[in-house]
Amino acid sequence: MQRLAPALREDNVPLDLISLIKTILAATKEISFRVSQAHLSGLMGSTLDENIQGEVQKQLDVVANELFKDILLESGFVKAISSEEEDTSVAGNPNGKFIVSFDPLDGSSNIEINSLIGTIFSIHNAQEDMDADDPDMFKQSGNKQVCAGYVLYGPATMLVMTTGSGTHFYVLDRTHGGFLRVERNVQVPKDTQEFAVNMSNQRFWQAPMQNYINDLLLGDTGPRGKNFNMRWIAAMVGDIHRVLTRGGLFTYPADTKDPNKPNKLRLMYEANPMSFLIEQAGGKAMTSEGRIMDIEPTDIHQRVECIMGSSNEVDACLGYYK
Ligand code: F6P
Ligand code: MN
Repeated sequence: MQRLAPALREDNVPLDLISLIKTILAATKEISFRVSQAHLSGLMGSTLDENIQGEVQKQLDVVANELFKDILLESGFVKAISSEEEDTSVAGNPNGKFIVSFDPLDGSSNIEINSLIGTIFSIHNAQEDMDADDPDMFKQSGNKQVCAGYVLYGPATMLVMTTGSGTHFYVLDRTHGGFLRVERNVQVPKDTQEFAVNMSNQRFWQAPMQNYINDLLLGDTGPRGKNFNMRWIAAMVGDIHRVLTRGGLFTYPADTKDPNKPNKLRLMYEANPMSFLIEQAGGKAMTSEGRIMDIEPTDIHQRVECIMGSSNEVDACLGYYK
C-alpha cells in the first residue's frame, strides 16, 4: 500500500495539484471527525435556512461547507470555489491556478440515520484572463476536469479519486493520519445484474425509462432473460461507490414530479466528478441524449439526468430511448 503523495507523483500529477489535493484531504479529515462527533456536539438536525436550491440545510451541511471553503480559500491554491451550499462562486487568490466545485456533504438525509454520506469535489484549471469573482469561470465542461473524487464517510473513510490516469481507491489510515492507496485502476464490470434508482418516482419517468425498468423487473421471465437486484442508498457517493466496486447501473432519470425541476442531480459537483471517476474505471456516464462530460454548463447549479455505471447496461438502457 502506497501513501498518497508518492502514489500521485508516480502518476506524474503536477506538484501544485498534489498540494491542492492534500489541502482538500485535510478538510475532509476534519469533516470526517465532525461527522463522527455530530450527535455529541449538538450538530444533528436542520438549520432554519434553505440553500439557493430551496433545500433545507442540515447543520452538518453548513459546518462541512464552511470548513471546506475556508481551508481551500486560505490555501492560496484556488482562484475561486463553488459549492452546493453557496449561492454563487466565491473568489480566492487571484493568482490561484485552480478552481474547485464541491458538494460538501452529499446524501445529507442520511446524517440522522448514521448512514453513508460523503464529500464530492471537481477541479478545473482557472482561466487566467477571468476575474476571480466571475462565476463564468466555472462554465467548463466535465471533459476539462483535471481531478475529481469523493471522500466517503463510511465504516472506513475512503478517498476515490482520478487525475485522468485511472480511478484509484484510498483508505484513511488513522494510525498515521494519511490516506493509503489500496486499489489501483479500479474497473467497473461491463455487465451487471444490479440497478439503483428511486423506484417511488416510477410513475413520473418518461416512457423509455419506465419500459427499461419494467423489463429489469421481469427478470428471467422477461426480454432480458436474467434476474436483477436493486439497491438504493439515497446518497450518490454511496451508490456510485458500490457501482465502482462491483458494477451496476445508477440512474436518476428525468421526471415530471415537480415541473420546475425535471432533474435532481447537479452537473458541476455531482454528475461531472462521478462521470470522470466512472469513465476512468471503464464505465459509461450519460444522459439519455449524450455524454454527461460533454455538456457545456450554463449555470453553476444546473441539474442533469444521470444514467451511469456498467457500460453494457448503460447501453441497454439507452437502447430504449432510440
Ligand atoms: O444530493 C442529492 C442526493 O441526495 C444524492 O446524493 C442522491 O443520489 C439523491 O439525492 C437521493 O434522492 P432521493 O431523495 O430521491 O432518494
Ligand atoms: Mn449531493
